[in-house]
Amino acid sequence: MHRKLHIKYYVEPDTAALARRAAQYFSEMVSEAVADQNWASIAISGGSSPKAAFQLLADPNQPWRARMPWDKLNLYWVDERTVPADHPDSNYRMTREALLDQVPVHWDQVHRMEGELDPEIAAARYEAELRNNFRLEGAESPRFDLISLGMGPDGHCASLFPHTEAIHEMTRLVTANNVPQLNTRRITLTWPVINHARSVFFLIAGADKADRVREVFMGPHDPERLPSQLIWPSSGILTLFLDKAAAAHLPATDGEGSGVLERQR
Ligand code: 6PG
Repeated sequence: MHRKLHIKYYVEPDTAALARRAAQYFSEMVSEAVADQNWASIAISGGSSPKAAFQLLADPNQPWRARMPWDKLNLYWVDERTVPADHPDSNYRMTREALLDQVPVHWDQVHRMEGELDPEIAAARYEAELRNNFRLEGAESPRFDLISLGMGPDGHCASLFPHTEAIHEMTRLVTANNVPQLNTRRITLTWPVINHARSVFFLIAGADKADRVREVFMGPHDPERLPSQLIWPSSGILTLFLDKAAAAHLPATDGEGSGVLERQR
């Protein structure tokens, strides 16, 4: 684990520009991985922030659909709600409607978390699928090529919510997390799995997150209260894409709309 974390952030004027930036990054990172190893395994978050980027990736009138090596993509989720796949709250359903129904991805390239099952069972089945698909042995962790995260106004990411058990889960790859503040349980990748990815980025939009963005990425280390601080990629690099509203309390960016933060632990 690097003691230093180099955070590179990019600020876009609005959510439309942010979605374009995210679509471009997905396309670049997937294409790089495929060029390197002939496939790309990525894990995506749900919520609202990534939806517009997924729609751009699927849009035949945009440049990215034609560029993406869809047949080489293995798609996983970072987390899922404990609802059926066709439920309005399902991260899988959001991704299917915004992206998967429009692009040439075969069903066996798509690995959803089974939100319809008991979360402990769903977590165990997903972990077994990861172990099988990544051919893991012993305590090995899957190395995703790209993991996309969002951040809630409370500083959560994935389904790692403040003061919940999953914050302390360091041995399992996937866990069921009891989230009393939402009166629900979630299925989530654990933070060591996320940190093991080749590339990890946050996609954060909205003024309601500006205070937390500053606390998480510039404030004291307090992951119980700010679980997004658990994200400290083993590469020593973390990328943030934000809209202007969410980045309001970060240091001003350079002429190209980017900046750097260094964290030490
Ligand atoms: C989920 C996500 C979650 C999300 C944040 C931010 O299941 O909801 O995985 O971690 O990324 O809650 O959500 P928004 O993008 O909607 O702000």
